[in-house]
Amino acid sequence: MRYLVTYWSQTGNTRKVAEAIFEVLPAEKSLKPFDEVETLDGYDFIFTGFPILQFGPPPAAKIFLSTHAAGKNIAMFVTHAIPGANPQQQVMLGKELGRCRSAFAKSEILGLFHCQGELSEKAANELISTNIPMLMEFAAMRPLTIGHPNPAELEQARVFANAVIKI
Ligand SMILES: Cc1cc2nc3c(=O)[nH]c(=O)nc-3n(C[C@H](O)[C@H](O)[C@H](O)COP(=O)(O)O)c2cc1C
Repeated sequence: MRYLVTYWSQTGNTRKVAEAIFEVLPAEKSLKPFDEVETLDGYDFIFTGFPILQFGPPPAAKIFLSTHAAGKNIAMFVTHAIPGANPQQQVMLGKELGRCRSAFAKSEILGLFHCQGELSEKAANELISTNIPMLMEFAAMRPLTIGHPNPAELEQARVFANAVIKI
């Protein structure tokens, strides 16, 4: 089996999840950011990850998936700021994850792992400067995101990877 873990990450959270997944995969395996992937052909099992930006998948993920992912079997992983700690946050997170799934419309999704990722101070300041109320609300969530993905979440990502490759 040839495994690929490919990801897009602005501030390193999704990369940490990618590395955790990569650790537990058996050889033969590769870990690459999207911009180092020329094709998904030749891999038997593909993990693809990105953060949620502005309520859905970032443009880089949409472009990558539409270029490479049609007809492929893919396990997804996603990081996000929303804690999902109350019903309102759960509904919002559910919608955002739904948009992420839609970006894989032409692929077979084998599984989805998601966890919180720290919203950096720089990113929070940028969100505040947009003056868009919903984005400013995300900035206010920063204290709830600090330290994520944490060791327990990275362990969950390893457990996910181990389980999904056995399906
Ligand atoms: C411009 C911007 C927009 C964001 N929008 C959302 C969002 O709509 N929903 C959410 O849950 N998190 C949002 N986030 C938080 C990121 O998804 C989170 O911090 C993620 O872990 C970043 O991953 P990375 O370090 O791999 O880039 C946003 C972050 C930035 C910088």
